[in-house]
Amino acid sequence: MLIYGDKTMADLVIKNGRIITCKGDGPGPKISEAMDDVGVIENGFVAVSEGRIEAVSTGDGRDYISDKTHVIDAEKRLVMPGLVDSHTHLIHYGSRENELMLKLQGKSYLEILKSGGGILSTVRDTRAATKEMLIKKAKKSLDVMLSYGTTTIEAKSGYGLNFEDEVKCLEVAKDMNHVVDIVSTYMGAHSVPEELKSRPEEYINLMINKVIPYVAENGLCKFIDCFCEEGVFTIDESRKILIAGAKHGLGIKLHADEIEPMGGANLAAEVGAISAEHLLAASDDGLMEMREKGVIAVLLPATSFYLRLGKYARGKEMIKMGIPVAIATDYNPGSSPTESLQGTFVFASMGMGLTPQQVINSVTINAAYAIDKGNQIGSLEKGKMADILIMDAPNENYIVYHFGINHVKTVIKNGRIVINR
Ligand code: NIG
Ligand code: FE
Repeated sequence: MLIYGDKTMADLVIKNGRIITCKGDGPGPKISEAMDDVGVIENGFVAVSEGRIEAVSTGDGRDYISDKTHVIDAEKRLVMPGLVDSHTHLIHYGSRENELMLKLQGKSYLEILKSGGGILSTVRDTRAATKEMLIKKAKKSLDVMLSYGTTTIEAKSGYGLNFEDEVKCLEVAKDMNHVVDIVSTYMGAHSVPEELKSRPEEYINLMINKVIPYVAENGLCKFIDCFCEEGVFTIDESRKILIAGAKHGLGIKLHADEIEPMGGANLAAEVGAISAEHLLAASDDGLMEMREKGVIAVLLPATSFYLRLGKYARGKEMIKMGIPVAIATDYNPGSSPTESLQGTFVFASMGMGLTPQQVINSVTINAAYAIDKGNQIGSLEKGKMADILIMDAPNENYIVYHFGINHVKTVIKNGRIVINR
């Protein structure tokens, strides 16, 4: 660190930008009207020192600039926090473009799953893949994510579905060593594996007695998640699995009420989940309970679009109710084959009715809280990690309005320029 007198000089200063900080009023995710505010600083600068944000303010940052400082002139472009993708199924093998045709012929997602396709076909490919194959594929996806401005993700397991292959996938995530940071979630409860199809109890006991203790004790994940859905795991089964995870110190996430109304939102509130995800079919009382408990709604509008469900989660209403909302890709080979969080903006706005400000807070500060990293990332404020984007756009409305392209010009991760286009 360079210190002149009592002043810290910056390693990097980005000046002449339209800064949006996404900073909240206090700790915790943004709710209600706070979602409308992205913390605009016109003609501002961000100063970075040793990978952390040193200052964000109006002006040209001259007080932080020494002859050793790298200065970037943003030329009035939008400067914002790195995007946080709070729900992905990163580690898997293979792809499922064959399902596009099945969907066009009118087959539903749950029908494809029931006939041994869907998640189960990816499980077959993932089990057959070596760690090296999985690393290579995941690296390619992380590279795409980074180029589109995503600097931290959550990644769920759930395509191994036995002890060895779930551990293999979580170890791959842990060893990725990519610029993009990964927070892992154990989701063995993604489906009952084919070999135990008639004995789901046996699979649940395997997770509870063997896999959960192992992955928790070996630091392979921070959260547990479960696909609570018709024909997958019931409410009672989900409760049992999630509580077993919590007993081993894992935070709780839940794929709740994605397709059928199961009472997943209620369960998420009951078990003290950090987030309930999907929520297309969530009930009014389920949402009310989530609000009481401060459960974050992680909404996945690209999935709603891609499953052709004809509806979206009630994001606008949730914000009005005071539920903290985050938006993520759900990147996976079936229901949302896209790594681009920017690509979800149009579905969040045109599909769910969110304003650009609400969309942006949902993929930065609130997404950071959804993976329990809200005190380290998700906003541009002193002390946080210097994960910063310069967008080739004049303002925050523009990046939501002009859809289907990549607005990223520069990505800075931990204070280092990692992409410059
Ligand atoms: O979030 N809902 C369950 N899991 C994923 C889909 C996984 C798959 O189809 O491979 C989802 O939509
Ligand atoms: Fe998912």
